[in-house]
Amino acid sequence: MGEWWRFLLHALILTVSLCTVHGANVTYDRTSLVINGHHKILFSGSIHYPRSTPQMWPDLISKAKEGGLDVIQTYVFWNLHEPQQGQYEFNGRFDLVGFIKEIQAQGLYVTLRIGPYIESECTYGGLPLWLHDVPGIVFRTDNDQFKFHMQRFTTKIVNMMKSANLFASQGGPIILSQIENEYGSIQSKFRANGLPYIHWAAQMAVGLQTGVPWMMCKQDDAPDPVINACNGMQCGRNFKGPNSPNKPSLWTENWTSFLQAFGGAPYMRSASDIAYNVALFIAKKGSYVNYYMYHGGTNFDRLASAFIITAYYDEAPLDEYGLVRQPKWGHLKELHASIKSCSQPLLDGTQTTFSLGSEQQAYVFRSSTECAAFLENSGPRDVTIQFQNISYELPGKSISILPGCKNVVFNTGKVSIQNNVRAMKPRLQFNSAENWKVYTEAIPNFAHTSKRADTLLDQISTAKDTSDYMWYTFRFNNKSPNAKSVLSIYSQGDVLHSFINGVLTGSAHGSRNNTQVTMKKNVNLINGMNNISILSATVGLPNSGAFLESRVAGLRKVEVQGRDFSSYSWGYQVGLLGEKLQIFTVSGSSKVQWKSFQSSTKPLTWYQTTFHAPAGNDPVVVNLGSMGKGLAWVNGQGIGRYWVSFHKPDGTPSQQWYHIPRSFLKSTGNLLVILEEETGNPLGITLDTVYIKN
Ligand SMILES: *[C@@H]1O[C@H](CO)[C@@H](O)[C@H](O)[C@H]1NC(C)=O
Ligand SMILES: *[C@@H]1O[C@H](CO)[C@@H](O)[C@H](O)[C@H]1NC(C)=O
Ligand SMILES: *[C@@H]1O[C@H](CO)[C@@H](O)[C@H](O)[C@H]1NC(C)=O
Ligand SMILES: *[C@@H]1O[C@H](CO)[C@@H](O)[C@H](O)[C@H]1NC(C)=O
Ligand SMILES: *[C@@H]1O[C@H](CO)[C@@H](O)[C@H](O)[C@H]1NC(C)=O
Repeated sequence: MGEWWRFLLHALILTVSLCTVHGANVTYDRTSLVINGHHKILFSGSIHYPRSTPQMWPDLISKAKEGGLDVIQTYVFWNLHEPQQGQYEFNGRFDLVGFIKEIQAQGLYVTLRIGPYIESECTYGGLPLWLHDVPGIVFRTDNDQFKFHMQRFTTKIVNMMKSANLFASQGGPIILSQIENEYGSIQSKFRANGLPYIHWAAQMAVGLQTGVPWMMCKQDDAPDPVINACNGMQCGRNFKGPNSPNKPSLWTENWTSFLQAFGGAPYMRSASDIAYNVALFIAKKGSYVNYYMYHGGTNFDRLASAFIITAYYDEAPLDEYGLVRQPKWGHLKELHASIKSCSQPLLDGTQTTFSLGSEQQAYVFRSSTECAAFLENSGPRDVTIQFQNISYELPGKSISILPGCKNVVFNTGKVSIQNNVRAMKPRLQFNSAENWKVYTEAIPNFAHTSKRADTLLDQISTAKDTSDYMWYTFRFNNKSPNAKSVLSIYSQGDVLHSFINGVLTGSAHGSRNNTQVTMKKNVNLINGMNNISILSATVGLPNSGAFLESRVAGLRKVEVQGRDFSSYSWGYQVGLLGEKLQIFTVSGSSKVQWKSFQSSTKPLTWYQTTFHAPAGNDPVVVNLGSMGKGLAWVNGQGIGRYWVSFHKPDGTPSQQWYHIPRSFLKSTGNLLVILEEETGNPLGITLDTVYIKN
């Protein structure tokens, strides 16, 4: 859609919404959400605005609409919106109002999951780190400090939506909001304080008077009038249902895939499995299904939580770059259309269920005028069943949908959409040494540090997520000449590199399953004063579980030749010098002396080069397959953490291509800066474009 056309459309919507000051009336009953008196079956998809760019939003939303979605669901990212207490950010990728207005312009609804704890594979579960330092705070329980800030932020977001007239009650697209997030799975950890908190949260939210319903997901006892909703892969099978006879059955997260960690392989949930579970949920009187994610996108910068890769739910119906993934996208589109063609009996009819065989079941919906049937085969084998004296073939693990109870228009297991295959086309090679400039970080030692403590400090509360990196340094006088010694380090996570007298002696890392790191190395000490510098790196903060505020990271114990240095005089440096000077930006780049490229690569080296944008509109990625681990920026914008040296069980990297949104690029002179923690070779980097082969 052209710019002027979009402008006209916005103007039109503005005119319409000015004329129709009264908004939609959204309520609910056992059947479904009720919008202006009409029951609705709603298909929804999660798209998180900070995981793409404003330039990508219109296309993502229009592909979602074309795929048969009615609703876009998003979390609200507190950590991105209030990075420092009282300082707010709502521009660019963080423009929540702009995102919702774009959805409105395309005629879709919005579900706003405010949280404000969101988990979402987002560092610290989307909570800003400064919350950690609020005296006396305990997150997500009956704690005055947490409740104060949760209410303050929730109110701010609700008021922001109200002033832009975005709730359906005001004529806007938001039909549903969420407070808290999957609290049911940790509530017992808070014992007696869990229940009062969840009641308070419900009451607080309802008191904000949005004019549209609230829900809680994975909260079986969500207090009235808040709706309890299901999250998971098999809500059709496992959801116990609404906790009150007048609430609808909602599925807020139908997982289209599963999160991927560094060291892990992608999980490709098949189109037919997703379709089967959605159809079953609807057959069991569900009325709202959300795909988590419909578009996953990119964990730019340091947004990802512990060990989560930078591409997010790339296996979703729209891939990381917003390209349609087939057959998933198309098969679900057909599913949506066939269910929508049964809307009348599904919403107004009565359901009867009966057995068609040992593992076969019919769900029949009859209204005074129409009929619809869902015929399920939950067994693994193809069977032929009789339904109303007619034979039907039912493939294993599938559901046939029969509008009119006669003709099968769709079977979840019969995928007629062709697979598509995505490929990367190298467009530019960075293989000439003279095009690279290099800056190697100095290894700080105890004498260089100004922050001191006689103990090993927790990295989360010390670095406060301003950087992945924190140096732990000490010095000691070694009396035995040429002694071979054993350095042993125990860290709570996530990565460490040890240097003795400026020389790298060892590296080790944990994983998503176990962030703890132990390293034992034979090292050479000199006779006299030795400088020990240990770089600890976090790879995203934890995002789930109870008592997030008490999690720690970094070194817990250090021994040299059996002598414990844990309670010793330590010097600290938070972050790297290049980060402090922001040498990844155009203006910061001149603050250090860059050198020409030498053939041998050293750890902790920054590399920079410039490049032309590849012609065309295909998505752009940088192939970092020749590198180890680190961070990358293009024109000062963080494109995320990379970690290609952490392999999947099959020996290949979890992620090799890293997205550079087109809007980050100019036509020429784009600045690419890479901080390489290990000894990767930048001469092997290529700039590729992404296309669909067939
Ligand atoms: C909204 O709809 C509900 C049920 O559909 C109805 O009871 C209520 O009166 C309506 N409210 C308004 C303000 O129209
Ligand atoms: C983590 O644990 C799960 C289940 O035990 C396993 O399947 C997976 O491969 C592990 N991942 C890594 C990166 O070790
Ligand atoms: C949710 O999605 C998963 C996989 O993406 C699928 O297996 C499941 O059936 C879906 N459930 C619902 C209720 O849509
Ligand atoms: C099925 O066939 C039987 C026997 O011919 C008949 O009595 C019955 O009415 C038929 N049922 C339907 C739903 O057509
Ligand atoms: C240790 O650090 C001090 C202070 O920077 C320096 O003077 C000394 O040469 C270093 N020792 C070694 C062995 O590198």
